[in-house]
Amino acid sequence: MSLKNQKIKTSLLGNRIYIKKHDEYLAETMFYYVDSDRERLGKFLPWVLFSKTVQDELNYIRHTHRCWDDGTIFDFGIFLKENNLYIGNIGVHTIHWKNNRCEIGYWILGKFEGQGYVSEAVRLLEKHLFEIGFHRIEIRCSSLNFRSANVPVSCGYFFEGILKDNTLDIEYEKYSDMYVFSKISTSYLKDNIEPLTIMDKVPIILIAKNLPQYFTQKQIEHLKFDIDNQKGIIYRRNDKIIGFLLYFSSQGVVEISWLGVASDFQNQGIDKALKDEFNNICKHK
Ligand SMILES: CC(C)(COP(=O)(O)OP(=O)(O)OC[C@H]1O[C@@H](n2cnc3c(N)ncnc32)[C@H](O)[C@@H]1OP(=O)(O)O)[C@@H](O)C(=O)NCCC(=O)NCCS
Repeated sequence: MSLKNQKIKTSLLGNRIYIKKHDEYLAETMFYYVDSDRERLGKFLPWVLFSKTVQDELNYIRHTHRCWDDGTIFDFGIFLKENNLYIGNIGVHTIHWKNNRCEIGYWILGKFEGQGYVSEAVRLLEKHLFEIGFHRIEIRCSSLNFRSANVPVSCGYFFEGILKDNTLDIEYEKYSDMYVFSKISTSYLKDNIEPLTIMDKVPIILIAKNLPQYFTQKQIEHLKFDIDNQKGIIYRRNDKIIGFLLYFSSQGVVEISWLGVASDFQNQGIDKALKDEFNNICKHK
Protein backbone atom coordinates (compact mmCIF):
# COMPACT_ATOMS: atom_id res chain seq x y z
CA MET A 1 0.00 0.00 0.00
CA SER A 2 1.44 3.35 -0.94
CA LEU A 3 1.50 6.36 1.36
CA LYS A 4 -1.19 8.19 -0.52
CA ASN A 5 -3.74 5.46 0.26
CA GLN A 6 -2.93 5.39 3.94
CA LYS A 7 -3.82 9.05 4.17
CA ILE A 8 -7.52 8.31 3.72
CA LYS A 9 -9.32 7.61 6.98
CA THR A 10 -11.47 4.48 7.04
CA SER A 11 -14.23 6.16 9.05
CA LEU A 12 -15.47 9.71 9.57
CA LEU A 13 -17.88 10.95 12.19
CA GLY A 14 -20.56 13.58 11.42
CA ASN A 15 -23.47 15.08 13.39
CA ARG A 16 -26.18 12.58 12.53
CA ILE A 17 -24.25 10.05 10.48
CA TYR A 18 -20.87 8.42 10.15
CA ILE A 19 -19.28 6.84 7.10
CA LYS A 20 -17.15 3.74 7.27
CA LYS A 21 -15.14 1.60 4.86
CA HIS A 22 -17.23 -1.46 3.96
CA ASP A 23 -17.03 -4.63 6.01
CA GLU A 24 -17.80 -7.92 4.29
CA TYR A 25 -20.69 -8.55 6.69
CA LEU A 26 -22.57 -5.70 4.95
CA ALA A 27 -22.98 -7.73 1.76
CA GLU A 28 -26.30 -9.26 2.73
CA THR A 29 -27.95 -5.97 3.80
CA MET A 30 -26.46 -4.16 0.83
CA PHE A 31 -27.92 -6.75 -1.51
CA TYR A 32 -31.29 -6.63 0.23
CA TYR A 33 -31.36 -2.81 -0.12
CA VAL A 34 -30.41 -2.86 -3.78
CA ASP A 35 -32.84 -5.69 -4.52
CA SER A 36 -35.74 -4.02 -2.71
CA ASP A 37 -35.12 -0.63 -4.34
CA ARG A 38 -33.99 -1.89 -7.76
CA GLU A 39 -36.23 0.25 -9.94
CA ARG A 40 -35.38 3.58 -8.29
CA LEU A 41 -31.66 2.90 -7.91
CA GLY A 42 -31.32 1.29 -11.35
CA LYS A 43 -32.57 4.42 -13.12
CA PHE A 44 -29.26 6.17 -12.62
CA LEU A 45 -26.83 3.54 -11.36
CA PRO A 46 -25.83 1.11 -14.13
CA TRP A 47 -24.18 -1.38 -11.72
CA VAL A 48 -27.58 -2.23 -10.16
CA LEU A 49 -28.24 -4.45 -13.19
CA PHE A 50 -25.23 -6.62 -12.27
CA SER A 51 -26.07 -7.00 -8.61
CA LYS A 52 -28.13 -10.20 -8.70
CA THR A 53 -27.08 -12.09 -5.57
CA VAL A 54 -25.54 -11.57 -2.14
CA GLN A 55 -22.36 -13.08 -3.60
CA ASP A 56 -22.29 -10.27 -6.21
CA GLU A 57 -22.39 -7.73 -3.39
CA LEU A 58 -19.66 -9.58 -1.51
CA ASN A 59 -17.54 -9.59 -4.66
CA TYR A 60 -18.20 -5.88 -4.99
CA ILE A 61 -17.09 -5.19 -1.41
CA ARG A 62 -13.93 -7.24 -1.95
CA HIS A 63 -13.32 -5.33 -5.17
CA THR A 64 -13.65 -2.00 -3.27
CA HIS A 65 -11.08 -3.29 -0.75
CA ARG A 66 -8.60 -4.05 -3.53
CA CYS A 67 -9.30 -0.60 -5.04
CA TRP A 68 -8.76 0.97 -1.62
CA ASP A 69 -5.32 -0.63 -1.48
CA ASP A 70 -4.58 0.50 -5.07
CA GLY A 71 -5.81 4.02 -4.34
CA THR A 72 -8.37 3.94 -7.15
CA ILE A 73 -11.68 3.92 -5.22
CA PHE A 74 -12.56 4.62 -1.58
CA ASP A 75 -16.07 3.35 -0.90
CA PHE A 76 -17.88 3.83 2.41
CA GLY A 77 -21.20 2.83 3.93
CA ILE A 78 -23.34 5.62 5.42
CA PHE A 79 -24.69 4.82 8.91
CA LEU A 80 -27.05 6.61 11.29
CA LYS A 81 -25.24 7.50 14.50
CA GLU A 82 -28.27 6.97 16.72
CA ASN A 83 -28.70 3.26 15.93
CA ASN A 84 -25.82 2.27 13.60
CA LEU A 85 -28.30 1.59 10.83
CA TYR A 86 -26.71 1.26 7.39
CA ILE A 87 -28.58 3.55 4.95
CA GLY A 88 -26.50 3.88 1.77
CA ASN A 89 -23.08 4.35 0.21
CA ILE A 90 -20.76 7.20 -0.61
CA GLY A 91 -17.48 6.81 -2.46
CA VAL A 92 -14.50 8.58 -3.94
CA HIS A 93 -13.67 7.51 -7.46
CA THR A 94 -12.10 8.73 -10.73
CA ILE A 95 -9.10 9.74 -8.66
CA HIS A 96 -6.28 11.62 -10.39
CA TRP A 97 -3.49 11.64 -7.83
CA LYS A 98 -1.25 13.61 -10.16
CA ASN A 99 -3.76 16.46 -10.33
CA ASN A 100 -5.15 16.08 -6.80
CA ARG A 101 -8.69 15.67 -8.06
CA CYS A 102 -11.43 13.11 -7.59
CA GLU A 103 -15.14 12.54 -7.87
CA ILE A 104 -17.72 11.73 -5.19
CA GLY A 105 -20.68 9.40 -5.87
CA TYR A 106 -23.53 8.25 -3.61
CA TRP A 107 -26.83 6.46 -3.18
CA ILE A 108 -29.23 6.08 -0.31
CA LEU A 109 -32.17 3.81 0.43
CA GLY A 110 -35.51 5.40 -0.64
CA LYS A 111 -36.99 5.71 2.83
CA PHE A 112 -34.06 7.87 3.99
CA GLU A 113 -34.17 10.24 1.01
CA GLY A 114 -34.63 14.00 1.34
CA GLN A 115 -33.49 14.27 4.96
CA GLY A 116 -30.08 15.73 4.22
CA TYR A 117 -28.11 12.56 5.08
CA VAL A 118 -26.37 12.42 1.71
CA SER A 119 -25.51 16.13 1.85
CA GLU A 120 -24.08 15.56 5.32
CA ALA A 121 -22.02 12.63 4.06
CA VAL A 122 -20.71 14.73 1.14
CA ARG A 123 -19.68 17.55 3.50
CA LEU A 124 -17.97 15.11 5.83
CA LEU A 125 -16.05 13.43 3.06
CA GLU A 126 -15.09 16.61 1.17
CA LYS A 127 -13.68 18.14 4.38
CA HIS A 128 -11.41 15.13 4.81
CA LEU A 129 -10.45 15.04 1.12
CA PHE A 130 -9.41 18.70 1.22
CA GLU A 131 -7.54 18.14 4.50
CA ILE A 132 -5.43 15.38 2.97
CA GLY A 133 -4.53 17.48 -0.04
CA PHE A 134 -7.13 17.05 -2.77
CA HIS A 135 -7.59 20.27 -4.70
CA ARG A 136 -10.68 19.64 -6.79
CA ILE A 137 -13.74 17.52 -6.06
CA GLU A 138 -16.31 16.81 -8.74
CA ILE A 139 -19.86 15.60 -8.53
CA ARG A 140 -21.44 14.44 -11.77
CA CYS A 141 -25.00 13.33 -12.37
CA SER A 142 -27.49 12.85 -15.15
CA SER A 143 -29.42 15.99 -16.07
CA LEU A 144 -32.54 13.88 -15.47
CA ASN A 145 -31.51 13.08 -11.89
CA PHE A 146 -32.77 16.21 -10.12
CA ARG A 147 -32.51 14.61 -6.65
CA SER A 148 -28.85 13.92 -7.21
CA ALA A 149 -28.21 17.42 -8.58
CA ASN A 150 -29.81 18.87 -5.42
CA VAL A 151 -27.00 17.39 -3.34
CA PRO A 152 -24.10 19.43 -4.84
CA VAL A 153 -26.41 22.45 -5.09
CA SER A 154 -27.24 22.24 -1.39
CA CYS A 155 -23.56 21.67 -0.57
CA GLY A 156 -22.52 24.83 -2.44
CA TYR A 157 -20.79 23.21 -5.42
CA PHE A 158 -20.24 25.36 -8.49
CA PHE A 159 -22.24 24.23 -11.53
CA GLU A 160 -19.65 23.97 -14.29
CA GLY A 161 -21.86 22.91 -17.13
CA ILE A 162 -23.46 20.20 -19.18
CA LEU A 163 -21.78 17.39 -21.07
CA LYS A 164 -24.13 16.86 -23.99
CA ASP A 165 -25.23 13.29 -24.78
CA ASN A 166 -22.61 11.99 -22.38
CA THR A 167 -24.30 8.73 -21.37
CA LEU A 168 -25.99 6.03 -23.41
CA ASP A 169 -28.96 4.42 -21.72
CA ILE A 170 -28.69 0.87 -23.03
CA GLU A 171 -32.26 -0.05 -22.17
CA TYR A 172 -33.86 2.88 -24.00
CA GLU A 173 -31.06 3.37 -26.55
CA LYS A 174 -31.05 7.07 -25.77
CA TYR A 175 -28.28 9.45 -24.80
CA SER A 176 -28.64 11.78 -21.85
CA ASP A 177 -26.75 14.88 -20.71
CA MET A 178 -24.46 14.98 -17.70
CA TYR A 179 -24.22 17.81 -15.17
CA VAL A 180 -20.79 18.61 -13.75
CA PHE A 181 -20.32 20.34 -10.38
CA SER A 182 -17.09 21.13 -8.58
CA LYS A 183 -15.65 22.45 -5.35
CA ILE A 184 -12.07 23.75 -5.16
CA SER A 185 -9.93 23.63 -2.02
CA THR A 186 -8.87 27.28 -2.28
CA SER A 187 -12.47 28.49 -2.18
CA TYR A 188 -13.59 25.96 0.43
CA LEU A 189 -15.46 27.65 3.31
CA LYS A 190 -14.46 31.09 2.08
CA ASP A 191 -16.60 33.94 0.79
CA ASN A 192 -16.68 33.66 -3.00
CA ILE A 193 -18.17 35.62 -5.85
CA GLU A 194 -18.99 33.35 -8.79
CA PRO A 195 -20.71 33.64 -12.15
CA LEU A 196 -24.47 33.05 -12.04
CA THR A 197 -25.59 29.61 -13.25
CA ILE A 198 -29.00 28.05 -13.86
CA MET A 199 -28.64 26.15 -10.56
CA ASP A 200 -28.76 29.45 -8.63
CA LYS A 201 -32.32 30.36 -9.57
CA VAL A 202 -34.12 28.84 -6.55
CA PRO A 203 -31.87 30.40 -3.85
CA ILE A 204 -31.95 33.79 -5.61
CA ILE A 205 -35.75 33.79 -5.81
CA LEU A 206 -35.86 32.83 -2.14
CA ILE A 207 -33.66 35.82 -1.20
CA ALA A 208 -35.91 38.13 -3.25
CA LYS A 209 -39.10 36.70 -1.70
CA ASN A 210 -37.68 37.40 1.74
CA LEU A 211 -37.14 41.05 0.80
CA PRO A 212 -40.77 42.07 0.09
CA GLN A 213 -39.94 45.72 0.68
CA TYR A 214 -37.73 45.62 -2.44
CA PHE A 215 -39.24 42.86 -4.58
CA THR A 216 -42.96 42.82 -5.37
CA GLN A 217 -44.59 39.65 -6.73
CA LYS A 218 -44.52 41.16 -10.22
CA GLN A 219 -40.83 42.01 -9.92
CA ILE A 220 -40.09 38.46 -8.80
CA GLU A 221 -41.72 37.20 -12.02
CA HIS A 222 -39.44 39.54 -14.01
CA LEU A 223 -36.46 38.42 -11.97
CA LYS A 224 -37.22 34.76 -12.76
CA PHE A 225 -37.24 35.58 -16.46
CA ASP A 226 -34.05 37.63 -16.23
CA ILE A 227 -32.16 34.91 -14.33
CA ASP A 228 -32.70 32.71 -17.39
CA ASN A 229 -31.73 35.40 -19.85
CA GLN A 230 -29.16 37.71 -18.30
CA LYS A 231 -25.68 37.38 -16.90
CA GLY A 232 -24.91 37.79 -13.26
CA ILE A 233 -22.77 37.01 -10.24
CA ILE A 234 -23.61 35.48 -6.91
CA TYR A 235 -22.04 35.87 -3.46
CA ARG A 236 -21.53 32.60 -1.61
CA ARG A 237 -20.71 32.22 2.09
CA ASN A 238 -20.40 28.84 3.81
CA ASP A 239 -21.83 27.15 0.72
CA LYS A 240 -24.95 29.34 0.78
CA ILE A 241 -25.87 32.00 -1.75
CA ILE A 242 -26.51 35.22 0.18
CA GLY A 243 -26.35 37.86 -2.54
CA PHE A 244 -26.77 38.34 -6.29
CA LEU A 245 -26.32 40.91 -9.01
CA LEU A 246 -27.74 40.59 -12.52
CA TYR A 247 -26.74 42.75 -15.47
CA PHE A 248 -27.46 43.27 -19.13
CA SER A 249 -25.99 45.32 -21.94
CA SER A 250 -27.87 47.61 -24.21
CA GLN A 251 -26.32 49.70 -27.00
CA GLY A 252 -22.85 49.10 -25.67
CA VAL A 253 -23.71 50.07 -22.10
CA VAL A 254 -23.71 47.47 -19.32
CA GLU A 255 -26.27 48.07 -16.58
CA ILE A 256 -27.23 46.39 -13.33
CA SER A 257 -30.78 45.05 -13.50
CA TRP A 258 -31.14 43.39 -10.08
CA LEU A 259 -29.19 43.42 -6.86
CA GLY A 260 -30.16 41.63 -3.66
CA VAL A 261 -28.52 40.63 -0.37
CA ALA A 262 -30.29 38.30 2.08
CA SER A 263 -31.67 40.29 5.01
CA ASP A 264 -29.47 38.58 7.64
CA PHE A 265 -26.33 39.59 5.75
CA GLN A 266 -27.01 43.22 4.93
CA ASN A 267 -24.60 45.98 5.98
CA GLN A 268 -21.62 43.63 5.77
CA GLY A 269 -20.17 44.97 2.53
CA ILE A 270 -21.65 42.26 0.31
CA ASP A 271 -23.50 44.75 -1.84
CA LYS A 272 -20.23 46.67 -2.37
CA ALA A 273 -18.28 43.48 -3.11
CA LEU A 274 -20.82 42.52 -5.78
CA LYS A 275 -20.72 46.00 -7.33
CA ASP A 276 -16.89 46.02 -7.29
CA GLU A 277 -16.83 42.67 -9.06
CA PHE A 278 -19.38 43.96 -11.56
CA ASN A 279 -17.15 46.98 -12.25
CA ASN A 280 -14.21 44.61 -12.79
CA ILE A 281 -16.23 42.60 -15.27
CA CYS A 282 -17.20 45.80 -17.13
CA LYS A 283 -13.55 46.93 -17.28
CA HIS A 284 -12.53 43.68 -18.95
CA LYS A 285 -15.38 43.60 -21.47
C1 LIG B 1 -29.45 11.06 -5.28
C2 LIG B 1 -29.73 10.68 -3.84
C3 LIG B 1 -28.50 10.04 -3.24
C4 LIG B 1 -30.08 11.99 -3.08
O1 LIG B 1 -30.39 11.65 -1.74
P1 LIG B 1 -31.20 12.62 -0.78
O2 LIG B 1 -31.55 11.85 0.42
O3 LIG B 1 -32.29 13.29 -1.53
O4 LIG B 1 -30.08 13.67 -0.42
P2 LIG B 1 -30.19 14.87 0.60
O5 LIG B 1 -31.42 14.80 1.44
O6 LIG B 1 -28.92 15.04 1.30
O7 LIG B 1 -30.36 16.02 -0.50
C5 LIG B 1 -30.46 17.26 -0.26
C6 LIG B 1 -31.92 17.63 -0.24
O8 LIG B 1 -32.45 17.38 1.05
C7 LIG B 1 -32.84 18.62 1.65
N1 LIG B 1 -32.59 18.51 3.07
C8 LIG B 1 -33.52 18.10 3.94
N2 LIG B 1 -33.03 18.11 5.17
C9 LIG B 1 -31.75 18.53 5.12
C10 LIG B 1 -30.72 18.76 6.08
N3 LIG B 1 -30.91 18.58 7.38
N4 LIG B 1 -29.49 19.15 5.62
C11 LIG B 1 -29.27 19.35 4.30
N5 LIG B 1 -30.22 19.17 3.35
C12 LIG B 1 -31.45 18.78 3.75
C13 LIG B 1 -32.04 19.62 0.88
O9 LIG B 1 -32.58 20.89 0.87
C14 LIG B 1 -32.03 19.05 -0.51
O10 LIG B 1 -33.04 19.51 -1.30
P3 LIG B 1 -34.43 18.80 -1.81
O11 LIG B 1 -35.31 18.56 -0.62
O12 LIG B 1 -35.00 19.78 -2.76
O13 LIG B 1 -34.04 17.51 -2.48
C15 LIG B 1 -30.93 9.73 -3.72
O14 LIG B 1 -32.05 10.31 -4.33
C16 LIG B 1 -30.67 8.37 -4.39
O15 LIG B 1 -30.15 7.47 -3.76
N6 LIG B 1 -31.04 8.24 -5.68
C17 LIG B 1 -30.84 7.01 -6.43
C18 LIG B 1 -29.37 6.75 -6.72
C19 LIG B 1 -28.72 7.91 -7.44
O16 LIG B 1 -29.33 8.52 -8.31
N7 LIG B 1 -27.47 8.21 -7.06
C20 LIG B 1 -26.73 9.32 -7.64
C21 LIG B 1 -26.17 8.97 -8.94
S1 LIG B 1 -25.35 10.35 -9.66
